[in-house]
Amino acid sequence: MECLDHAPQLADPEGCYDTFLKIAAYLIEQSTPPGGVDWQDSVTGLPSLFPSTLSQSVLDERLDDSQLRSVLGRSGELASCHSDYHRWTLLYKIAWRTQNGERALMGDILDPDVRELDRLAHTVRRDIHKMKAFVRFKRLQDDNQERYIAWHRPDHRILRLAAPFFARRFGSMRWTIFTEHESVSYEEGSLVFGKGIPASDVDNVDEIEELWKAYYRSIFNPARIKINAMVKEMPRRYWSTLPEADIIQQLLDEAPSRVRKMIEAQTHGEGAAAFLPDDPVSLPVLQEHAEHCAGCGIAEMATRTVFGEGPQKAPIMLIGEQPGDEEDRVGRPFVGPAGQVLNRALEAAGLDRSELYITNAVKHFKYEPRGNQRVHRRASAREIRACSHWLNAEIAQVQPEVIVLLGAAAGQSLFGAGYRVGAHRGQTIDHQRVASKIVPTIHPSMVLRSTDSDRSSVFQDLVNDLRHAAEILGARDLQDELG
Ligand code: URA
Ligand code: SF4
Repeated sequence: MECLDHAPQLADPEGCYDTFLKIAAYLIEQSTPPGGVDWQDSVTGLPSLFPSTLSQSVLDERLDDSQLRSVLGRSGELASCHSDYHRWTLLYKIAWRTQNGERALMGDILDPDVRELDRLAHTVRRDIHKMKAFVRFKRLQDDNQERYIAWHRPDHRILRLAAPFFARRFGSMRWTIFTEHESVSYEEGSLVFGKGIPASDVDNVDEIEELWKAYYRSIFNPARIKINAMVKEMPRRYWSTLPEADIIQQLLDEAPSRVRKMIEAQTHGEGAAAFLPDDPVSLPVLQEHAEHCAGCGIAEMATRTVFGEGPQKAPIMLIGEQPGDEEDRVGRPFVGPAGQVLNRALEAAGLDRSELYITNAVKHFKYEPRGNQRVHRRASAREIRACSHWLNAEIAQVQPEVIVLLGAAAGQSLFGAGYRVGAHRGQTIDHQRVASKIVPTIHPSMVLRSTDSDRSSVFQDLVNDLRHAAEILGARDLQDELG
């Protein structure tokens, strides 16, 4: 595939999904497999690697992409607006597969490619939703006519998808919404797309503050609030730009106390405490509540809450750090590479995974997007503390005889930021609040990170510590038997 300087230019920078469909239809017609195309983004988000024979007129006139469009559906369109450039590679791979014997692929929700597409689409959908909720206009006087402007920073390229909503909602106004990359203006019934501008060029929104307050007051109905959604959709980082934030407390005074608690979690750093059920009757109830947790900012980036799993009365509880990429997709702890190591170590220690309760200090996946990868980022002390409420509730429910701390984060959740694996390994710790015997050990990912020459001894350390946990249990059982 040859890189062209004269890649087709588009009238609107966000129309690249249309272009993508045409290029994909062309490439499929030419029997070009996914591995034979390198999709790259130019600054405008266009796929910029084209077959040399391809010109805009070929795209415009020859190719019928309607079938691909309907096969990829709304998910395809949404995913195409994700800021991660691997979307094009993924979309083409799926498009190719649907046209090469897998017609029903999009219906296979367990297929990894389809799942990834759904994940991208879901993230974009959420971004659109936030844009709808948080865009704030400022009134300008322009040619003796009123014009409203707003500036918003979406995470993804959603302006085109979100614009019709604003046209409907503010159909009687002239307005422009700027983002860093694009803008859209609404004039006399049409949407016109143009250039974006940096944040520093946009004044603050003071002028229409009062207007927004009045508007917000009029729509605020505590009885109808979807509490979790509201907190989740109004994360703290938006609050400084929201004129209504300072009247929220006043409004909440009339709202049920539960609502107040939820908002406090975000504003006063109480973490997950406010999201716990009042009466945590069982693990499933805890889990259900954790699905809606917004006790710290990590929930915003993750796909789902990964709660602990295992029998309600498991004798041993294993605590890891946080879900990784694979766990985030699947929704279960320790199913990725570190999970494979753990499984082997458990087996070597004579422990049956299905009899253990396995969980993490932090229930959401924290990462940094890098290329098409999501690179693990360590949770901060504050985030570990915010999430410790779930862990404590799990411990209270399961009441394990033995707790194994896999790595530093697990120890920091129970003992505070000063906990170090190196300083505590090899001991059995008692905790004043937790009745269980606590066995500190390394995180299974240490095995993956160690050098070839060290790997088997690091693995053996993990196995020995797990075996120690099993022995504590065995000794207790023996004592019970002997009366
Ligand atoms: N690492 C962890 O600490 N927990 C998981 O669930 C997966 C990887
Ligand atoms: Fe809540 Fe923990 Fe997720 Fe933070 S990481 S949102 S505290 S569940």
